[in-house]
Amino acid sequence: MVEIATKVDIILRLSFFSSILPVTIEQKQPPTKSVKMHVVYKDIEGDMAKKLEDLFGLASGGLIEVNPGKVLIPPKFKSYAQRIIDMEVRPDDVWLVSYPRTGSTWTQEMVWLIGNDLDFQGAKMLQQLRAPVLELTALLGNDTSGVIKLIGETVEIVESMPSPRFIKTHLPLELLPKQLDVVKPKIVYVCRNPKDMCVSYYHYCRLMHDLHGSFNDFCELFINDMVPMGPIWNHIMGFWNRRNDPNVLFLRYEELKKDLKSVVLRCAKFLNKELNEEEVQAVLHHLSFESMKNNPAVNLEPVLEYRKTALLNQMTEDKVTCMQAPSFIRKGVTGDWANHMNPEIAARFDEWIKTNLEGTGLNFQV
Ligand code: A3P
Repeated sequence: MVEIATKVDIILRLSFFSSILPVTIEQKQPPTKSVKMHVVYKDIEGDMAKKLEDLFGLASGGLIEVNPGKVLIPPKFKSYAQRIIDMEVRPDDVWLVSYPRTGSTWTQEMVWLIGNDLDFQGAKMLQQLRAPVLELTALLGNDTSGVIKLIGETVEIVESMPSPRFIKTHLPLELLPKQLDVVKPKIVYVCRNPKDMCVSYYHYCRLMHDLHGSFNDFCELFINDMVPMGPIWNHIMGFWNRRNDPNVLFLRYEELKKDLKSVVLRCAKFLNKELNEEEVQAVLHHLSFESMKNNPAVNLEPVLEYRKTALLNQMTEDKVTCMQAPSFIRKGVTGDWANHMNPEIAARFDEWIKTNLEGTGLNFQV
């Protein structure tokens, strides 16, 4: 039976970790030759940009467009973009890449646990500390709650982590380290039916990014590639096109939902680990929706509580949308779009999905 650490325990570990990390870990590798790539930043303009800023309560310039990839992200990312592209990749790194709300926390938990020989004790530490989201400091660039103080400089944290590193990112392939192609560490990519992603992202943006528009407004942004992080298709195809590379494991949320056991076994094989039946059952128990929902190491509760308290103290109406939003690990089902999308929006999504999947061989039916 997996023991769950208390929230206070996790907050303490969180602050402890960020305060000691830069001085205690000295495994930084010597700098390697970097391949220069031109990152281009652009202001976002037009009606859609205005709508995006309004719905998220952002001042003009609160998000910029970063190319290649057309990523929409707070301008703070400028301090990290080139550094990430030039970052040293280690052969024993394990990268988890995904667009937000595809089940990446779930998949990361599976990958981390199997990669760490089922270290359930170690898994009590906040997942963000065990497997940091590389660009998180930039993603939270518009956050006024101060939660970033708890999380720290994520690029620096990743650079300083001891090996083997487990790293998560929502960036598209074009903005990831060039060395990924040379060093070829293990990369797990996870995607999800865009209709369910959109629903899940809407609730997440209310919870974490002060989104206060309607679901229909959010769908309009999503289908026009104008949500934070930008377009989904380029993101997915970057890795779908590499799905047969031996260092890539390409997964779909729907596969995890349908048959988690076989995904666990595939993941173990990919990571060169062997699991007996008892171990598989322990992993499945740890990864069940109920366990994940109640596990403060992955359900973001410690961070959300901190954020809510800080925002409540600021007491502006827009800033308390998170109070009404459902939890981070929300419903965990496929097909929830049907409870949110009207027939007209669903039909537009179907057409959009069909157009973008045509000829690719990818689908979300399992
Ligand atoms: P819903 O909002 O549809 O419930 P990410 O971690 O990439 O942000 O993805 C979050 C989505 O994964 C949420 O989807 C969340 O509920 C779902 N999820 C997390 N853990 C899960 C689990 N054990 N089983 C099923 N879904 C899970």
